[in-house]
Amino acid sequence: MLFPQLQIAHMRPRLPIIQGGMAVRVATARLAAAVANAGGIGIIAGTGLSTAELAAEIRRARELTSGYIGVNVLFAVRQFAELIKTSMREKVDFVISGAGFSRDMFDWGKEHNIPVISIVSSARLAKLAEKLGAAAVVTEGKEAGGHLGTDRSAMEILPEVADAVKIPVIAAGGIVDGFDIARALGLGARGVQMASRFVASEECEAHHNFKQMYIEGTHQDSILIDSPVGLPGRALRNAFTDSISEGKKLPIARCRDCLKHCTRRFCIFEALEKAVDGDVERGLVFAGEFVQKIREILPVQKIMERLSEEYAQAIGQPAVAMAGN
Ligand SMILES: Cc1cc2nc3c(=O)[nH]c(=O)nc-3n(C[C@H](O)[C@H](O)[C@H](O)COP(=O)(O)O)c2cc1C
Repeated sequence: MLFPQLQIAHMRPRLPIIQGGMAVRVATARLAAAVANAGGIGIIAGTGLSTAELAAEIRRARELTSGYIGVNVLFAVRQFAELIKTSMREKVDFVISGAGFSRDMFDWGKEHNIPVISIVSSARLAKLAEKLGAAAVVTEGKEAGGHLGTDRSAMEILPEVADAVKIPVIAAGGIVDGFDIARALGLGARGVQMASRFVASEECEAHHNFKQMYIEGTHQDSILIDSPVGLPGRALRNAFTDSISEGKKLPIARCRDCLKHCTRRFCIFEALEKAVDGDVERGLVFAGEFVQKIREILPVQKIMERLSEEYAQAIGQPAVAMAGN
């Protein structure tokens, strides 16, 4: 076996690679199932869906794969509890919360017997998650796409978190190739969570314009915005980000009152929905810092093969070892 075996609760994926949740409708059943079928762990983004839509999405994933599927929901949304409980009733393999830390999620997990994973950006929060019963923690650095909980780099935080807890630590943020995976595992991670690399895949259901922006993006295009959630968010620069960085408030056409706390500078869901539907100039294109390393839209299986080849190269293992992957 090329990679060390990752085990989180009952899950023992062939590859220690988790595809990160991506709202709204970037990480859908089709992408999550493709990742699970290729040996990783897939995540459906529940944020922005109704409970009925999320249940349908989980069932669609189950039809497409018998692999491991989890659901990610942003703690910041009012519907957080309903969406997480729906996922648990649908018996997903695990749930994971983003942009905030939920203590309640652990009680619901025990009630439904579903593993809970937390995203953390410090050793302190990782310890708290472990104490509350987390099956693993994802430690996310400033290179990640979407909402950020820190301005420190993933590889800087990782050894501190790995030292602080006994549960598996999954590294996230700026991990794009197999060399990055080798570095993360070398610093104490048992697996990685990658999101941006999987956007530029055939199975990702975001509009082609969205994927095209990734494969044409440069490092200078990666910027931070102030999200109405009250956190910074990493996105690709476009007409929309230029207009909000001038400090303007943008009119909100139809407020859905979706966030627990909203600064109301613009509607985050409207902006994310526009982008995923193809309006990548007037919408918000969340993306990780290193999109410039992603130059091709590939099938997920091919992405996994490349990651494995690069990892083998990084650890000086002959490519033949991959047969046992
Ligand atoms: C388009 C996009 C949407 C995202 N949405 C979410 C989300 O809904 N919930 C969450 O916890 N993280 C979200 N993230 C963060 C990813 O799950 C992941 O942890 C991060 O992007 C990893 O960094 P990478 O993109 O450099 O691989 C999003 C990232 C992207 C690129």
